[in-house]
Amino acid sequence: MAILVTGGSGYIGSHTCVELLNAGYDIVVVDNLTNSRLESLRRVREITGRDFKFYKVDLLDQEALIRVFAQNKIDAVIHFAGHKSVGESVRLPLWYYHNNITGTLVLCKVMEKYGVKNIVFSSSATVYGLQEKVPIAEELPLSATNPYGRTKLMIEEMLRDLYLSDSNWSIALLRYFNPAGAHNSGLIGEDPNGIPNNLMPYITQVAAGRLKELQVFGNDYETIDGTGVRDFIHVVDLALGHLSALTKVMATTGVEAYNLGTGRGYSVLELVKAFETVTGMRIPYTITSRRPGDIGICYANPSKAERELGWVAEKGIEEMCSDSWRWQSNNPNGYLEEAKIAAGVGAAPSPRTLSRSNEDFFVYIGR
Ligand code: NAD
Ligand code: UFG
Repeated sequence: MAILVTGGSGYIGSHTCVELLNAGYDIVVVDNLTNSRLESLRRVREITGRDFKFYKVDLLDQEALIRVFAQNKIDAVIHFAGHKSVGESVRLPLWYYHNNITGTLVLCKVMEKYGVKNIVFSSSATVYGLQEKVPIAEELPLSATNPYGRTKLMIEEMLRDLYLSDSNWSIALLRYFNPAGAHNSGLIGEDPNGIPNNLMPYITQVAAGRLKELQVFGNDYETIDGTGVRDFIHVVDLALGHLSALTKVMATTGVEAYNLGTGRGYSVLELVKAFETVTGMRIPYTITSRRPGDIGICYANPSKAERELGWVAEKGIEEMCSDSWRWQSNNPNGYLEEAKIAAGVGAAPSPRTLSRSNEDFFVYIGR
């Protein structure tokens, strides 16, 4: 009995793997490593002391995915795999639609073939579109303003149709607000490619001296100090939300959406201030014009998740700042250097490659 985690070597996926392993679940991870490194999973092993299987498989490769299901007894799937950059999705819409939607389609077909009908899906608060009414509750009308958001919306609808066609399915649509922070070991965290789009990794890279200063996108919103307000949620709280959703989908059938947020908004400058207070670092910034497509204020009403999943976010903004900084300062170049060492000389315990083919390879993450 195992939980399949797609996109498990990514930012939220790796933190969820830690919590699943700590809670005693067996896991199987599938990722094509387009936006992550195997090193993150070696560190998941280091944090938890538990071994597990990893398949370098692209969800678009149905035959490879079938092999994963044939070789493992999967009970439920937590589905993180997908592209996630709004700007990139505007430039490369077909790549986003194909990867995110077709990937999920192939996954569901293979799940159906093997009679696995429990799935927890990574949706996003982006499905609420340009909503200005806060707090945002699940029943508000949905819309999307870019291809990335539309993939999330379409997948939610596809999964609802799947349940309507077969009531044995059990589906949780988790709408994340703004994930931030890192595991408190400092071993795993967010490792964006190139210049970060999101606020917290931008701040930590300014603090680390990799970027000169923060540009604050607008100070003329109707908020406490004019800068944008968001519901930042610690990635470990988010990971634990997946375990609560998993318990629910394994015990019932149906399809339900849940907001995963704290219910409290912080402005950009409040986050900067909190980071400076917690770390003692100074974050130079300048105010620039609004970023196109941004809304002023966005935070969740998370009460449905509390009521139906028994889940609440517990970690505050200070912990998000201190954990993000620990990760960034311990790993100034993310996973890059460690990954090179592990691959080159095996200085650190490296994953054992058991077999490799052109399309996919299987790795046992263990000693
Ligand atoms: P991430 O990029 O770190 O992780 C996603 C993983 O999926 C990566 O490891 C990538 O290599 C893998 N992947 C992508 N396409 C794949 C494919 N076709 N086959 C196999 N693997 C594939 O992103 P994250 O921040 O951990 O986000 C996880 C999920 O949560 C995504 O679906 C994202 O859209 C969603 N989400 C993220 C945020 C956020 O701010 N981080 C907010 C809301 C929703
Ligand atoms: N911001 C800055 N400067 C920066 C980066 C961000 O001022 O360099 C501001 C933004 O204008 C916004 C706030 O910081 O007011 C948060 O911005 P992020 O880019 O970190 O997060 P968003 O809320 O814009 O977007 C996130 C995810 C999207 C998702 C959206 C809704 O990155 O994928 O939440 O769920 F679609």
